[in-house]
Amino acid sequence: MSGTSRGAAVGIEDLVFGYEKDRPILRGLSLEIEAGERFGILGPSGAGKSTLLLHLNGLLRGEGRVRIGDEPVGPATLASVRRRVGLVFEDPDDQLFTPTIGEDVAFGPLNLGLGREEAGRRVRDVLERVGLAGFERRNPHRLSLGERKRAALATVLSMAPEVVAFDEPFSNLHPALVERLMGLIAGLDATVILVSQQILPALAVCDRIAVLLDGRIARTGTPAEIAADRALLSAAGLDIRSTLEAARRRGVDLGPE
Ligand SMILES: Nc1ncnc2c1ncn2[C@@H]1O[C@H](COP(=O)(O)OP(=O)(O)OP(=O)(O)O)[C@@H](O)[C@H]1O
Ligand SMILES: [Mg+2]
Repeated sequence: MSGTSRGAAVGIEDLVFGYEKDRPILRGLSLEIEAGERFGILGPSGAGKSTLLLHLNGLLRGEGRVRIGDEPVGPATLASVRRRVGLVFEDPDDQLFTPTIGEDVAFGPLNLGLGREEAGRRVRDVLERVGLAGFERRNPHRLSLGERKRAALATVLSMAPEVVAFDEPFSNLHPALVERLMGLIAGLDATVILVSQQILPALAVCDRIAVLLDGRIARTGTPAEIAADRALLSAAGLDIRSTLEAARRRGVDLGPE
């Protein structure tokens, strides 16, 4: 075992990236995420949250350093890094590509070299965990968006990665499913990175939260610290209390606090 000083699951140093030469998105971003932590990343739309996640397993490469544990992300480590880090994309259709949910979820485990029977067990277990028990033979194109999102999550969980990075997992989910997913994320035996515009579920499940603004991490803190920083939340367009106040001004009676 490594000592506690080597407990970082993800390290990002001075990451600089832009899709176009004169329009930088990440401008020297640094971040350390501890092993086992549930780490939230919040920020305005277009801030670069999804872009940042795509650097974790080398789908994008900027200047600077990204490492998973002690392993730098680079051409020589891609296969290993992609086993260690599972990205759950915002759009499930980026993740589902076979004719049935069962095959989609079994794809990773079979690729890891598991036998059909063991892979089948993992598929059943993982589909049950995401609330899709019995969906093995269903066609992904005939599912609701919320169901497809959970199926995409199942394809990642079936690989049992050390780090699971979620991009907007709560979008398009029914409130009851948001709650169920919060429970699932809280119980994952992995380091979790959670990018979300839905601030309440993020505050509720994360140990620490970073706010991404102008290409860097503007602040990292506990959910309570971030929730109390209304100036920062409002700069990031994330102050839900101002949304509540706006709803009240429009005459919505939300009952007592
Ligand atoms: N493939 C691409 N080519 C060019 N520009 C892109 C590309 N993908 C994203 N961008 C731009 O990069 C910026 C960051 O995008 P990104 O998707 O990372 O933002 P985000 O923080 O995830 O936003 P949201 O909360 O809306 O999902 C945006 O201005 C976006 O328009
Ligand atoms: Mg995004």
